[in-house]
Amino acid sequence: MKVTYYGHSCMGVNVNGVDLLFDPFITPNELAKHIDINSVPADYILVSHGHEDHLADVQTIAERTGAKIVSNFEIVSWFAEKGLQNGHPMNHGGNWTFDFGTVQYVNAVHSSTLPDGKSGGNPGGFIVKTPEGTFYFAGDTALTKDMQLFGEQNEFSFVMLPLGDNFTMGIDDAVIAAEYLQCNRVIGMHYDTFPYIVIDKNEAKTKFKEAGNELILIEIGKTVEL
Ligand code: NI
Ligand code: MN
Repeated sequence: MKVTYYGHSCMGVNVNGVDLLFDPFITPNELAKHIDINSVPADYILVSHGHEDHLADVQTIAERTGAKIVSNFEIVSWFAEKGLQNGHPMNHGGNWTFDFGTVQYVNAVHSSTLPDGKSGGNPGGFIVKTPEGTFYFAGDTALTKDMQLFGEQNEFSFVMLPLGDNFTMGIDDAVIAAEYLQCNRVIGMHYDTFPYIVIDKNEAKTKFKEAGNELILIEIGKTVEL
């Protein structure tokens, strides 16, 4: 799988030639000014919850690419009202098999009100099982013991976790999350975008290393193969 970081919590994952795009927030992100959203590929756009910093560019990218929007029922319905009819609604615990693999929408401990104040349902994350491997995109969440269950039920190639603290778990809890998830390869997200979530990247890497895990912080616009 090829993983491209577009800043904040926006990740592109290429699985067998299919492009999954998670939580697009690119044009409002000062750190991602060099990314041209017209060049961001997407066959599917997966939205973890209703906050602006996870869906700001969904409409633009979905209109250009025709990508299918995968999220909870409330968010998929909200985009349908905006004319984006190609959606797949889910809710917590549910699995659906797409052409690239199986997605499970799982619990996140956070909130999910949409930018216009409407309900974005309950926040979530995604477990994606593909022939190339299984990974977890946590979205915005606190550390939760549910992660222990995810780790028991899956063998993760890598997991994507928020690190920035304040609005989500911070570095110390992310180290524990990796332990619960039984995965020693963590891709960091949700850090440095805003003053509240600035992290010390070296300190973060050291803390993961001390726990026997690898923390991968991808440069914005760069791709890693995992
Ligand atoms: Ni959020
Ligand atoms: Mn957020």
